Amino acid sequence: MKNLIIGTALILTATTTFGEPARSLTVGEGFVNPLGFHEASPVFSWKLPDGVKKQSAYRIEAEAGEKSWDSGWIKSDQSTFVPYGGEPLTSRQQVDWRVRFRDEAGNDSGWSAPAHFELGLLSAKDWKAQWIRPAGDSDPNREAVAWLRRSFSTEKKIARARIYVTARGLFEISLNGTQVGSDHFANGWTSYDKRLDTLTYDVTSRLRTGVNTLQALVGTGWYAGRLTWEKGKKELYGEYPELLLQLEITYGDGSSQTVVSDGQWEGTFDGPLVSSSLYDGESYDARKTAPDWKPVAADADLGPQQLEPKPFPPVRNTETLHVQSISVPQPGHFVFDLGQNMVGWARIKVPVEKDQTVTIHFAEMLNADGTLYTANYRTAISTDTYTAANTGTIEWQPHFTFHGFRYVELSGLPPGVTPQKDWVTGVVLHSDLAQIGRFDSSHAKLNQLQSNIIWGQRGNFVDIPTDCPQRDERLGWTGDAEVFCPTALFNYDCDAFWKSWLASMRDDQYPDGRIPHVIPNVLPKWKGDSPGWMDAATIIPWNVYVRTGDISVLADNFAMMEKLVAWYRSQAVGGLTPKIKGFGDWLQPYAKKLTGDTPFALIGTAYYAHSAQILADSARVLNRQDEAKRYADEAASVRQAFFNYYFDPSGRLQNSPETQTAYVLAIAFDLIPKDAQQKAAANLVRLIGDAGGHLRTGFLGTPWIESALDKTGHDDVAFDLLFQETYPSWFYPINQGATTMWERWNSYSRDKGFGDASMNSFNHYAYGAIGQWMYERVAGLAPDPASPGYKHFFVRPLIGPQQLDSARAELETPYGLASSGWIKQQGKVAMDVVVPPNTTATIEFPDHRIPEIVEAGTYHFQVNLK
Ligand code: BGC
Repeated sequence: MKNLIIGTALILTATTTFGEPARSLTVGEGFVNPLGFHEASPVFSWKLPDGVKKQSAYRIEAEAGEKSWDSGWIKSDQSTFVPYGGEPLTSRQQVDWRVRFRDEAGNDSGWSAPAHFELGLLSAKDWKAQWIRPAGDSDPNREAVAWLRRSFSTEKKIARARIYVTARGLFEISLNGTQVGSDHFANGWTSYDKRLDTLTYDVTSRLRTGVNTLQALVGTGWYAGRLTWEKGKKELYGEYPELLLQLEITYGDGSSQTVVSDGQWEGTFDGPLVSSSLYDGESYDARKTAPDWKPVAADADLGPQQLEPKPFPPVRNTETLHVQSISVPQPGHFVFDLGQNMVGWARIKVPVEKDQTVTIHFAEMLNADGTLYTANYRTAISTDTYTAANTGTIEWQPHFTFHGFRYVELSGLPPGVTPQKDWVTGVVLHSDLAQIGRFDSSHAKLNQLQSNIIWGQRGNFVDIPTDCPQRDERLGWTGDAEVFCPTALFNYDCDAFWKSWLASMRDDQYPDGRIPHVIPNVLPKWKGDSPGWMDAATIIPWNVYVRTGDISVLADNFAMMEKLVAWYRSQAVGGLTPKIKGFGDWLQPYAKKLTGDTPFALIGTAYYAHSAQILADSARVLNRQDEAKRYADEAASVRQAFFNYYFDPSGRLQNSPETQTAYVLAIAFDLIPKDAQQKAAANLVRLIGDAGGHLRTGFLGTPWIESALDKTGHDDVAFDLLFQETYPSWFYPINQGATTMWERWNSYSRDKGFGDASMNSFNHYAYGAIGQWMYERVAGLAPDPASPGYKHFFVRPLIGPQQLDSARAELETPYGLASSGWIKQQGKVAMDVVVPPNTTATIEFPDHRIPEIVEAGTYHFQVNLK
């Protein structure tokens, strides 16, 4: 950046009339000065300082070694996802860049502070390393952990050193005895047959002159470990954990040295980390300190998979929880309550006795007698053990397992000890995404619901979006992700997270267009033809686009969406889908079967129309006008067929049992004409009344019921449902003590105890999809699909019923902080709104006065209550 900085100094002396410069410069999907970046043709984003209404022009300069690029002044208000226009970047390249802009009056901001990024290894060709693992077999009865090491010497002053690393399995590396990076479960879970993510670490200051030692632990993880509930399912991708590592050192004198994983390493499967399994837990035997190091098996064939820099943040420890209370339900079994259902592991600091094994059990709930309730883990053993080499105090935590729990039980401690709260710490682990959204209100249970939603997201964003974090599943179930995606995008900055998972979805899409039930697909025997699950392929890209403005997610996934819609078309008869089955309206309360009472064909036709419409909208955004027209026509004809078959002229369902979900989907997806929607809504309200003001919706109906009601003018009914205290409702689990979202409303109740253990997760985010409505309508902060990424957005709060005095949402949008809050004050409502620079908002007032369109700024309004 030398030249650029000199340039700034020159300009600064020439004029002093600059405003404040741009801030928060990011590359790609919101990365701040990343190392090991993944894109050869990146995009740039920046935020404008407060006080600026609008950008009228920008100029970007980027310098990458000999290559430099100056966009020149571009008249545009675009300040997010602006494409780099220089020569394509290459592996390892370091890029410095900066931006300046002109505001609405043409004032020049001057240059921003420089930002920078460095690329990782972009293709397999960059790798000289070989896949290595300890030679020989490991014990097939345990998930053995590979322990690998190599020493090497450096002699000169080091200018730069990078470790590029990946694994078939999960790795942790250390250099000279200290861990490199703070990542867990790296390299993460992709569709391993097609793509492996690689990580980059800067170890310049960690190398010393003389002898250095690199060590790696590689666990079986998702690659070679036990996965799914199906008996004996192990080694789905490969037999052994393996490591691929390349340390590149550049010396001050310009010379270089490379240390790679190859036949010069040594290894063993017989280290103290005896076994580690994602589902079953980890066993550590501290007595095994001097393993028998042997030569490794090395393979120079890198395999067919793409090797690409990991495109989103790995799992990290983001918070620790402390013990709230201790109980002793059985002699010698100490139960520590962390007060919050969480995902990660327990770090223990306990007294131990030589040769004795401390056993660490976990549970989300307790039985009535205070012992751990673990039936809902199904076959997941979820137990860690530590065997002591000496008597004394040890501090330990596992490496390649995680648990879903609130309670930790320790047993096997020396006799007579008195348990202490600091013996156990809850280590919270999840993909390290930034929290960008906050919802708050005057209502304690609504706030608890928001907290449960957030914890549900944290616990189930463990490198991929999972259904649950505790039992023998923890899989990327598409339906759960599909319904929760809009809420997830409010809570956390997860553009890159979703895009990576969608890349695995593209990799694993069946040739005929269906989408597997879980991504990455580890259930290959299942056909993957479930409406509402498969449609993750259309609904998630669309939601990511609408909420971030990142158009590449539509371009990348357009072909996948087309193939899915083509599959629906291949199944259709007269626009309907009579042959498609699937999971239906999964777990509908009081239904005769798990798949609910709404006919499969109705759900299939509804999602066919919905996905075809999203495909048409995506084609329009991508300027593919012919396809836009063709798919819009297709969607319209499916809607027509749906309406003709399922609705009579009075807006009542026919050829189908009357279910809440059938009406909800018809209204929410605009499957029936506007006047019929009103009539259908009246029928929906009647059904809700018949159910005593309760939900009769499962996984597909529940996420949409509130918006279907409020869209048709029944927000009072929507609020009644939201504030319902008895089963089934959002508050019911809270009344039973929930600190996360549950799989079923009555997974546990104080009067009836636990539900059916075979489907009884206490950390299942699907019903947390209500978060979207809380942000968009209760607080009133809603995106505008026509102007994505909050370039324009809506403020349209519904002023809630008597029990709600205020609500507020804040969101760090790609342009800066936006917020919408309201509070009742002596018969009036005070609204306050923040509109970030370079955006506009339309304020729709609760008293239905004419909406106002406002520019960036802070606003206060007074509204009379009806
Ligand atoms: C998962 C669900 C998933 C479902 C499909 C379950 O075992 O936990 O959340 O969507 O299967 O029906």
